[in-house]
Amino acid sequence: MEPIVVPKGLDGVIVDDSAICTADSDNGTLIYRGYSAVELAEKASFEQTAYLIVYGKLPGRNELAEFSQFLKKNEEPDSNTKKIMALINKDTAVIDLMRSVVSLVPTNETKQDRVLLEIAAKMPHIAADGYRLINGAAPLPSISGTYAERFYYQLTGKNDAEAAKYLEKLLILYMEHEMNASTFALRVTASTLADPRAALTTALATIKGPLHGGANDQILNYIVKMDTKDEAVKFVDDRLARKEKIMGFGHRIYKKVDPRAQFMKKELDALSRLKHTEKLYDIAAAIEETVWDRKKLPANLDFYAALIMHLLGIDHVFYTPIFASSRSFGWAAHYLEQVGNNKLIRPDSRYIGPTGLKLR
Ligand code: ACO
Repeated sequence: MEPIVVPKGLDGVIVDDSAICTADSDNGTLIYRGYSAVELAEKASFEQTAYLIVYGKLPGRNELAEFSQFLKKNEEPDSNTKKIMALINKDTAVIDLMRSVVSLVPTNETKQDRVLLEIAAKMPHIAADGYRLINGAAPLPSISGTYAERFYYQLTGKNDAEAAKYLEKLLILYMEHEMNASTFALRVTASTLADPRAALTTALATIKGPLHGGANDQILNYIVKMDTKDEAVKFVDDRLARKEKIMGFGHRIYKKVDPRAQFMKKELDALSRLKHTEKLYDIAAAIEETVWDRKKLPANLDFYAALIMHLLGIDHVFYTPIFASSRSFGWAAHYLEQVGNNKLIRPDSRYIGPTGLKLR
């Protein structure tokens, strides 16, 4: 067979069919299983959306109750896993801790969908309990409430339904994004017929990078130091002059607008009024406007997500783990889709090294 040479980074290459999600760059739309992701963020719960993503249809009342109960029942890691987490070095990044712990956390389930969901259900506690344990503090108790309310409590120690609602919308928009880098990595692992835990570990390792899920942890570094819109403009110009990337901007698919970012921008507007921090919104909007003016790059979800999480009082160490926890439901759907119609993912490369060298 004649080899096919594809663009570097597989830019613009379709690697498989998928019925889970599609992002349209021209119209700036994102569809989860046929529904607008933004509409789901506005009107559906995290649990409904997660069920939709994993099983391909919205849950009925009983299905939703059973699914929500399953997530709640499985949210806490077992006592041995907690002991292991307490031994992990204090300086370990929370996303690294999640990657390592997920690679060995035991599961009670045997069916693949249940194993994936059981591990996904534990991610908020693995992140929050793990962070506390490596810093010598006791994990917070589990509370009742929705997935988002429980997650918000684990992150902040506050039982606050209004704040959890902002987090829930963000979690829904973080949940799935077709063939992004961590999902593709997970599908490569799944295609070898490695088990779900191995595939989730691959995805967690891949999401960490600053070009992907790690970007949201770097945005506050620059933005909270600014006081005026002029500083924002100067910051963008200086960065671009030094040919440095500005985290939270640009996207492989969205070249004009990231619908998730625009939705979260409106949320940030509302939240900053509520918290009387309008200046933060104004500076963010000025950065967005300047980056678009100079480079025609849109703000991506991470840009506004980081600011929302900041105003919700969430420590930046949890930003990438929050993204990963929600995305684990998207990864679950992709694992099942890959093994349901599998072919080993094994591309070829063009050799450009030497040949014919001889040993002396
Ligand atoms: N800041 C400045 N310039 C940028 C940025 C940025 N954030 N993003 C892209 N560019 C520039 C590149 O330097 C390049 O310029 P050139 O043609 O003059 O060399 C051009 O735009 C194309 O950029 P690529 O990196 O080649 O585009 P690609 O599609 O490969 O990358 C990516 C997409 C990795 C997201 C990129 O835009 C980036 O690095 N952004 C910053 C990291 C980030 O915010 N990641 C989060 C992604 S969204 C998510 O995971 C939820």
